[in-house]
Amino acid sequence: MWTFAKRKAPMTRGDFKKLPRHVAIIMDGNGRWAKKHKLSVALGHRQGTETLREIIRHTDDLGIEALSIYAFSTENWNRSKEEVAALMQLILDFFASEIDELDAKNVRILILGDKSDLPAKQREVLLQAEERTGGNTGLKLNIALNYGGRAELANAARELAMLVQSGRITPAMIDEKTLADHLYTRGQPDVDLMIRTSGEMRLSNFLLYQCAYAEFLFPTVLWPDFSVQDYDEALIAYGGRERRFGGRLK
Ligand code: IPE
Ligand code: IPE
Ligand code: MG
Repeated sequence: MWTFAKRKAPMTRGDFKKLPRHVAIIMDGNGRWAKKHKLSVALGHRQGTETLREIIRHTDDLGIEALSIYAFSTENWNRSKEEVAALMQLILDFFASEIDELDAKNVRILILGDKSDLPAKQREVLLQAEERTGGNTGLKLNIALNYGGRAELANAARELAMLVQSGRITPAMIDEKTLADHLYTRGQPDVDLMIRTSGEMRLSNFLLYQCAYAEFLFPTVLWPDFSVQDYDEALIAYGGRERRFGGRLK
């Protein structure tokens, strides 16, 4: 009998009837993957960055406009000192190995979150990456580090309050657009597709405002095992969703 190779070739843009403009991913399951393989959690996170590299490449190949990646939440500081240190080291390693290729591919990197609480070295590397790629016009790659959706909204409220206080705007001028213009993702489309791996079905404080009408997918595969083919399947599933935005279809 003829047997087909299990892994299909990655899909290309023309294979999809509809692609999202903005994909957000909560990379979850590194800890469980490490446990399953009897490895340290640090190695689980390291394996996760291998997945990340492939997913960024494929997103870029497909010509998707924006990709937001949840890498470290404001609540992740509650993990052990060792685990936080391993994650901080991975930030340095990831940018050292990827920045040249990302810049060459015209990817624009934006960090979502408060960089001021990160160690000086990490802060510098992230600022450099943002500066170096700031003029790029390709994929908008948003990496959420020390990010919290509630903190982002509180920041926006504070900035708007300051504008009112200084007399530059009036309270009546504040609408959804003004608020969105004070979020980290200003100028970018809302999230169309939110993917969280590992089977957990929650937002964990990620992009609360931007996900108002996002479609959600929760593949059970752990992040280090999430393949380009799994991603293609998620994108196909997105293409089959009927989005209504509160209206009624004819
Ligand atoms: C997600 O993997 C990565 C980060 C939070 C940085 P986890 O470490 O949360 O993996 P699980 O949930 O313990 O399996
Ligand atoms: C969300 O995952 C944060 C990241 C993936 C960076 P967590 O694993 O930290 O979320 P909870 O604690 O399970 O909600
Ligand atoms: Mg988790």
